[in-house]
Amino acid sequence: ADPDPLQDFCVGDLNATVSLNGFPCKPVSEVTADDFFFDGLSKEGNTDNPFGFGVTQGNVLAFPGLNTLGLSMNRVDLAPGGINAPHSHPRASESIVVIKGKVLVGFVSTSNVYYSKVLTVGQMFIVPRGLVHFQYNVGRGKAILITAFNSQLPGAVVVSRTLFASNPPIPVKILTKTFQVDASVINGIKSRFA
Ligand code: GLV
Ligand code: MN
Repeated sequence: ADPDPLQDFCVGDLNATVSLNGFPCKPVSEVTADDFFFDGLSKEGNTDNPFGFGVTQGNVLAFPGLNTLGLSMNRVDLAPGGINAPHSHPRASESIVVIKGKVLVGFVSTSNVYYSKVLTVGQMFIVPRGLVHFQYNVGRGKAILITAFNSQLPGAVVVSRTLFASNPPIPVKILTKTFQVDASVINGIKSRFA
């Protein structure tokens, strides 16, 4: 979904003081093989949290060699019963490959149709750009997924955090009206994200 590059590569200079659509290029004379190498996805993410979820992002901010190339990858670790909670990516479609375990993946279309599948090792699923999706570990052990995006910085809108943990908060009245529940229900949910 990102624009096409205008040169072979443009290793991002994350410290540049100019701001543009992406990052300016590091001088070619200073580029080495290390700029095209990223070891981040080899490490297990920390799943020691209420969601049993850890994500390691291999986007342009972590891996500047991706700048202008229109792609990135994440590693998702899920403890048994762990969830990558419903979220969407405004700038990319996502392909998901399970490399360990058994994972229920699903998304909902703009027509409100739910599409889902249980994936085992080597199997792949696609989440079209912008649609809300999740992954849930339904196996006995840990699960690992590799996700790939057609953007160097797909962005993530996590539905629960967006609605219940924004800063400053969305007025409770908006949420009681939206979900047709009492303020106590909204405040109960908010307290879980404090
Ligand atoms: C998984 O959904 C991810 O965004 O990495
Ligand atoms: Mn995702």
